[in-house]
Order: sequence, then C-alpha cells, then structure tokens
Amino acid sequence: MTTTENRTTAGPLRRSPGATAPLIREAWYVLAARSEFGQDLRQRWILGEPVCFYEAEDGGLIALDDRCAHRRFPLSRSLRIGDTIRCSYHGFTYGKDGRCLAVPGASPGDITVRSYPTLQRGPWVWIWTGRNPQDADPALIPWPAETEGGHSVTGYTINPCNYLMVHENLLDLTHLEFLHGFGVSDFTETALALLPPDELPDGFTELAVGYRKDLHTVLGGYALPTGDDPSTPVFHSTRTMSVTPAINYAVQSFEPTDPAAAKLRTVVMAHCLTPADDDSTHQFWMAWQDVPFTVDPIEHAQRFETIFNEDVAALGWIQEHVERDTREGVVEHSVPADVPGLRLRRLLHRLAAAETR
Ligand code: FES
Ligand SMILES: [Fe+2]
Repeated sequence: MTTTENRTTAGPLRRSPGATAPLIREAWYVLAARSEFGQDLRQRWILGEPVCFYEAEDGGLIALDDRCAHRRFPLSRSLRIGDTIRCSYHGFTYGKDGRCLAVPGASPGDITVRSYPTLQRGPWVWIWTGRNPQDADPALIPWPAETEGGHSVTGYTINPCNYLMVHENLLDLTHLEFLHGFGVSDFTETALALLPPDELPDGFTELAVGYRKDLHTVLGGYALPTGDDPSTPVFHSTRTMSVTPAINYAVQSFEPTDPAAAKLRTVVMAHCLTPADDDSTHQFWMAWQDVPFTVDPIEHAQRFETIFNEDVAALGWIQEHVERDTREGVVEHSVPADVPGLRLRRLLHRLAAAETR
C-alpha cells in the first residue's frame, strides 16, 4: 500500500471566505435526458431562466425560452399544435424557431422568443446558453472521450446548493471515506498530483482542472458491479477532473498486481452539472465501465442514488450555513486535497470576468 502524504499532518493551505459561484453562460450544459424529449412540452430552469423543450416532428430537439413574449405565460403550459405552440393565455402562436407566427387581432411583427442551440451527446441533450448561437461549436461539448462504447447506467438528482459546491464535492474524494463510509483510507491518505496540461482533455486545457491519484490497493467495493474478488490486489489509478463549468468526471482504472492475471476494467463516473439558479444544481450522472455489469443495472443505479442522496443532504446543510451564518470573519481552512477545487474557483471567476468584458 502506498501512502505518500499524511493528510492529517498537512497544515492549512489557505483561509478563504468560501465558495461563491458565478454563473457562466458561454458554455454547453446538459438540459435533459434524451428520453425526456417527446411530444409533451416540458420545462426546466437553468441558469435562473425557464426553458421549454420538446421533440419536433422531424426529431429536432427544440428548446425555447419558456416565457410568452406577451405577458410571460409559460409556453410549457400552453397548447402544442404540430410543431407550433399556442400560448394558453391570449393565443400568440410560436414556431419551433421561436418566431411568433400569429397574434389574435394583430400582426406578430418581429416578436420572437429565444431559441437555444441543442445537441445530443451521450444519453443527454446539451444546450448552448451563450449569447451568440454562432458560438455553439459542438467541439466545445466536454464529453469524456473515454466513454465510447462500453456499458453504463444513468440517473438524475437535484442538489440544493450552488454548482461550485457540487464540483468541489466531486473533486475532493476524501469525503468517500467519511460521508459515505467507504473503507478507502489508503485512497484518502494518498497525495494527489495535479494533471499537467497535456493530461487534460484535448481542446480543454484552459477550461479544466484535474488531478491523479495512483495507489496499490485491493479492489474492495469496486468489485461489486462485476463480481470480482474484493481482495484482488490492484494498481488503482484515478484521474478526476472538472472540465468547463458543466461536467466533472473521474476515470478509474484497475490493473491486477499479478501481471499474469486478466485485465480488470476501467470505470468512468461522469456528472453533468447544470445550475438551475444560484443555489440549486441539476446533476445528470452516468456510471460507465468497459466490461458488462454482472449485477442488475437498476440495482446498481439505485446504489448510486443512495450515495448521492448523502451528498445532497450534506451539501444542503452546508448551503444553509453559507446563506444564514453571516458572522464576520467566518473562513474556510483548506488543505492539499482542496487544491483542485481552489483552482476551479479561480478558473470560474476568470471565465465570469471574461463574460462581463
Ligand atoms: S401571455 Fe401569451 S398570449 Fe398573452
Ligand atoms: Fe459523494
């Protein structure tokens, strides 16, 4: 077992007032699971704005500002007629491109509601929230290339906290031992190494922070989805990163220590994080692996949900403290495990500052 840092003896790295989370709009975010797009008009709030979405008759993935241009009635509570939506308040009718096509008793003129670029990648539909639709370059979707093919389960939860708090939760996996009760003290105690730019995803080196942890250990709880022996000695390598404001993922490989043994597997845990507003965050998650599950995938997904509900509770309590505890001089003490999170704070504030220029 390798332990290169005793975390408990590392002194405070820095004091800071805590995470604040500027909303970044020039980005792709997950709006919904592809399976949520259909005949029905649906609504989801993202970045403090309501979005109405549905699948057009030609299969197009439509996302419109969920606010009639007349008196703000939600289009998602209106009537779909073919691909058009007739507002159920005074009858303005909109096309799938957001243009107003008809106004009872008047001309629609140039009335429009905002139409967002969308794209499917993986099991999800992504939405470009930047000002200019021409900037919606599909190459900017931060999809983990490692997850081509393979086997996965997905799910969704909503976190009662700002999105940065969820990123920091996912970047600091020392909480696995204490919040979730995983028996992974050797993982906890192993020092992280920040990923250099050439180990960050291609095209995202300016938009990502990440780190690596490598250790000799045993398979432990990671044996569960494949039925391997939990006492199998392995070299466990984890790369954990946040890439753009919209995604955090960890790529974990397990190689048997015995060179004669068969390769075990690679696992990717991806979390697409979309701010609903300043203090709540959609979390679309995917557990992927390169070998088939030998457990019931639904039970596997439920196990993840149980774990994530522990995060939801913890983050909700912390968010409440952030909002209600306004004592002067309250600071957070950071340790080396927080370095990736602190870097992400700086990155997000830099992106936010660039947007206001
Ligand atoms: S609010 Fe939609 S037509 Fe009046
Ligand atoms: Fe967690």
